[in-house]
Order: sequence, then structure tokens, then C-alpha cells
Amino acid sequence: MHYKKNTNCGEVNKDNIEQEITLNGWVQRRRDLGGLIFLDLRDRTGIIQVTVSPKDIPLAEKVRNEYVIAVKGRVGPRPEEAVNPEMLTGEIEVQANELEILNPAQASPLPVEDNIDTREEVRLRYRYVDLRRPEMAGKMVLRHRVAKAIRDYLDENGFLEIETPVLTKSTPEGARDYLVPSRKNRGHFFALPQSPQLFKQLLMVGGVDRYFQLARCFRDEDLRGDRQPEFTQLDMEMSFVEEEDIFSVVEGMMAGVYEKLGEEIEVPFPRITYREAMDRFGTDKPDLSFGLELSDVTECFSETDFKVFSNIIENGGRIKALRFPGGAELSRREIDNLEKVAKGNGARGLVWLALKEEGLQSPVKKFIREDEVVALGSQLKAEYGDLVLAVADEEKKAAQALGSVRVYLGREYKLRKPGNFFLWVTEFPFMEYSEEEDGYMAAHHPFTQPLIEDINLVDSNPDRVRARAYDLVLNGVELASGSIRIHSRDLQEKVFEMLKIPLEEAEEKFGFLLEAFQYGTPPHGGIAFGFDRMVMMLTGDNTIREVIAFPKTLRGVCPLTGAPGKVDEEQLQELHLRLEEE
Ligand code: AMO
Ligand code: AMP
Repeated sequence: MHYKKNTNCGEVNKDNIEQEITLNGWVQRRRDLGGLIFLDLRDRTGIIQVTVSPKDIPLAEKVRNEYVIAVKGRVGPRPEEAVNPEMLTGEIEVQANELEILNPAQASPLPVEDNIDTREEVRLRYRYVDLRRPEMAGKMVLRHRVAKAIRDYLDENGFLEIETPVLTKSTPEGARDYLVPSRKNRGHFFALPQSPQLFKQLLMVGGVDRYFQLARCFRDEDLRGDRQPEFTQLDMEMSFVEEEDIFSVVEGMMAGVYEKLGEEIEVPFPRITYREAMDRFGTDKPDLSFGLELSDVTECFSETDFKVFSNIIENGGRIKALRFPGGAELSRREIDNLEKVAKGNGARGLVWLALKEEGLQSPVKKFIREDEVVALGSQLKAEYGDLVLAVADEEKKAAQALGSVRVYLGREYKLRKPGNFFLWVTEFPFMEYSEEEDGYMAAHHPFTQPLIEDINLVDSNPDRVRARAYDLVLNGVELASGSIRIHSRDLQEKVFEMLKIPLEEAEEKFGFLLEAFQYGTPPHGGIAFGFDRMVMMLTGDNTIREVIAFPKTLRGVCPLTGAPGKVDEEQLQELHLRLEEE
């Protein structure tokens, strides 16, 4: 390579006019105007126009898109008619006097520009080309900046970044483990960590006091837009703290990070309890960027003749309703879609009432009385032109189904206000029923403190036991989750008992933690952010795959490397593994 860059494409400006510079980069575009060849040269920082005379430099004829080249030349102003206000470097160009082809390139499998509609599978297969696109390059820069801002803030506030093992024992966070067979210990397996949970607690026992880590976590679970099998957490833990201390550190950090990115956010963040979130929004991650809150309207129908409602009320169920202002004009097809959303989220049906000036319109009009409609309208403060939607069911089910309709309405009818609506959701349930396990499981993880005053409800009313667990939600997305931990062996053993985890099993899985609790454990608590989700919220994307350099597809595979792949018989033997016949 004869010509090594002394500046970057996007960093050249009018101040460099008359200077000799050397650039290295990729050819974005080549236009041959006979006497003159125009090359748009690109690197991570931007694009600049280079003019080459093929008479002086015949090699320029050979250059094609995505060739990697070096150019030496003089910066000059563009002729007035050629000024391009769309380009950062649109007022200047480089007149080349040397050109070197560093590497030719085959025709690109995808266009190297923004706003493409190439299939994601292709973009991931050729991610190294995809990453050259300015919007992807920008996301990688942003991700780096966010990580740096976090590290700086936490460093200034007394936190230490400490790495924890990746080859370890199972950490229960509710997903399946990825296992790694041990060659040296036949029949034994490491589990990749679902989070550094146990190690960060051990670090507190170790006197670290304030820990954080940008940690890789591994979870074998069903994938979605905001879930990857391996992802990054901003993991934090602090000693001698209660909820308030964690909230204020996180709020300070978020304000600091957003400020570094040129955005202002309001702190402290509002808080609601899990119970209130479920009542008002039908979800534990409410999107506060729009209204449409749910109400319990069971009382309006206490004497109803409408069998669907009366049956459910008799069986202890509730009726949840919401008012969609101006929704009375929705078409039948639109209303059918709302019903589909409700049913897709567990409802048995969706009652709708269009409050039109010319009279009530509803499929259940003949089943419900006028006084019921009046009571409903007055409780919801409904007006002419509104649409009222109601779901009757067991309370949580009704709220969740209608909550999903609410989210759908917010998105579909563009009700969301722009901005960052952060929210703490507190007092999560300690345990929840799992159909798969046919029993109660820890709702967060088994190291979370239950609220002491609720412990006696564990047999009579397990759903009512609350935990000192909290989530941070942003615009309806769960960004972070954490809790105040148990720090005594007695309480931890009692909690295993509450969760019906036999003591021998607890001893085998977490004996090391129980043991550590006996050697001087400070009260402690913490939180972990989905770091990919945090960056996704900043870029405005709706999948974390957009902010991860090399993500996996929804089927959990990597189209670029072909992982997961087969292994040799010999490797299996070394690991003492035998595959079952298919
Ligand atoms: P939790 O399991 O809630 O808590 O995870 C914390 C945060 O990590 C993010 N997250 C994910 N992001 C991408 N892909 C995934 N598969 C995925 N799973 C989770 C979410 C979530 O809020 N040890 C506890 C934290 C603690 O108690 O301190 C834990 O891991 O944004
Ligand atoms: P059906 O008697 O099942 O035909 O239902 C009459 C109307 O009530 C239909 O519009 C259904 O969508 C609605 N519906 C049925 N069950 C429920 C329910 N549990 N909650 C709300 N609406 C329901």
C-alpha cells in the first residue's frame, strides 16, 4: 500500500481547500463522463467526491463499486452548479493525482445505502457489507457512545467493572440453559450464564460494594424482536442499599447518558405498583405515551340480563372497559381487527358500543339496558363519537386482553406522543403460577426478597405475596429489571421452601451462595438493563437485531457463519457424547 490515509472522508471540509490529502475507502459510486471520472469515496465517517482524469490516471477506468482504493489529491471547491447541499462534503471535491486499487470487489449482494428493502436474511448473511451502510455504521457508533457514557458515569460514581465467568453453573432466570460439556470431567456440563446474578451477589459478599458489568448473557428461549439468545446486560449491584438508592443511581445515570447524547430527560421517573399497572393498563410494562386507561365497570352491570356478563360476574370475574375518543366512526373491518387482537390475547370476546348522536350502535344493544349504558358512559366520561370496548373474564385475563387492545390502538391510530416516557413499576408479585411447571415459580428469581408482611399469605394466597422487585419501563418496553436480595441463609432457605424447591436440590444448585451468606453478607440489591434494548430505544428501531453487529435470526441461527453447525465424530467422542439416531 503506497498511499496511507491522513484524514477521513467525512472529516474534510472547506478549511482543507488547497491542501493535499490522502484518503482510503470504498467506492460508493463511479460515474464516467468521458473526460472525467467521478468517484464517491466512502468510509465510516462519510462520503466525499473525487474527480479523476482517466487521461492522467488510466487505472481509474478499472474501478468499480465497493473497490477499496487509496486516493491522493488536492481539495478544491466544487463549481457552484455542482454544490450538493445534501452531502456534508457537498461544497468540496478532491482532484486526484494518484490512485491505487487496494482490493477489487465483486458486485455487492446488497445496496450500500440507507433505506433499502433487502431481506434481513440477506443483510445478515453479508453483515460485513450491511455494516458499511451509513445508518448501520451510525448505530455501531451510537452503541459505543452509550457504553462509554455508562462506563464514565458509573466510574465517577464509585462503581467497579468486574468480569464474571461464562463457563459456570446454571443461573435461574426463567429460560433454558445453553450447556457446554466438559471434556475433562466426563458427564459434567458447564452452563452459560443467563445473567451474572449469583456472581454479582458473591461480589457483594466480597466487599466490592458497587459493581457493574456490560455482561454477555445466554438464554435458550423463544426469540422475538426484543430477545436474542445471547445479549448484553448492563448489570449492576450495590451493597447497603434499599430501593430508593438504586432508583436514584439509575435515574442519575440515565439522565447523564441522555445528556451526553444531546437529549434531556426528566427525573425522577414516575412510579406505580404492579397492581396499579395491571388495573390501569392491563400490563406490567405500561406505555405512558398515550391515554386510553382501563376501568373496572363491573358495578355498572351488577344486575344485568346480558348472560355473557352475568355468568362471568357470578363466577367472580370482572368487566374491564376503555373509551376510545372519536372511535365511533371505526369501520366494521377495523372493529373486527380489535376483536381479533382481544381474542389473540386470551379474551373470549370483545363487546363494543359506538356512541353515535343518532343512537347507540352495538351487537349487544338488545341485551343491555339503557340505564347500564348510561352508568357505563358516565363512569368512563364518554361523549358522543366515542367507542367503548369491554372484556369480561377473570380479572387479570380481562385486563391483559384489553391492555393488548389498548397497545394496538395506540400504535395503529398513532396516539403515541413523541418523547421518553420512563416508569418504575414496583412491588411485583413474588411468585406466579406456571402452567408448564404446574406450580408456583419465582416471578423474578429466587434470590429476591419477598415483602416480609406478605410472607404469611404464601399458603392461602400465593398470588398476593409481593416482592421487593422492580422494572424500569420506557414507552411500553421493559428496559431493566431488579430487586433487593435476600442476604441471610435462613430467609433464603425459607424462600426455597415457599417455592417448593427441595433443600437438597437448592444445596446442589446454589449451595455455594447459601454458604457465602454465612460469612458476613451485606444487605444488597441491584438491577440489570437489557443494553441492546436501551440502544434500540435510542435508535427508534423495533428489533434489537438492528443494534447488534452480528445477531441471530428468529430461528436462532447465524446466516453469516452458519452456526450452529455439526461437529466431528472425534470431537463428540472426546466430550463423551453420542448423538441419538434421527
Ligand atoms: P431479567 O431476566 O429481567 O433480570 O433481565 C434483565 C433485562 O435483560 C433484558 N433481557 C433481554 N434482552 C435481550 N434478549 C433477551 N433474551 C433478554 N432477556 C432479558 C431485558 C430485561 O429487563 N439477574 C436479573 C437482574 C437483577 O435482578 O439484577 C435479570 O437477569 O431488558
Ligand atoms: P355471544 O353470545 O358469544 O355471541 O357473544 C355476544 C357478544 O359478546 C359478541 O360481540 C362477543 O364478542 C361478546 N363477548 C362474548 N364473550 C365476551 C367476554 N367474555 N367479554 C367481552 N365480550 C364478550
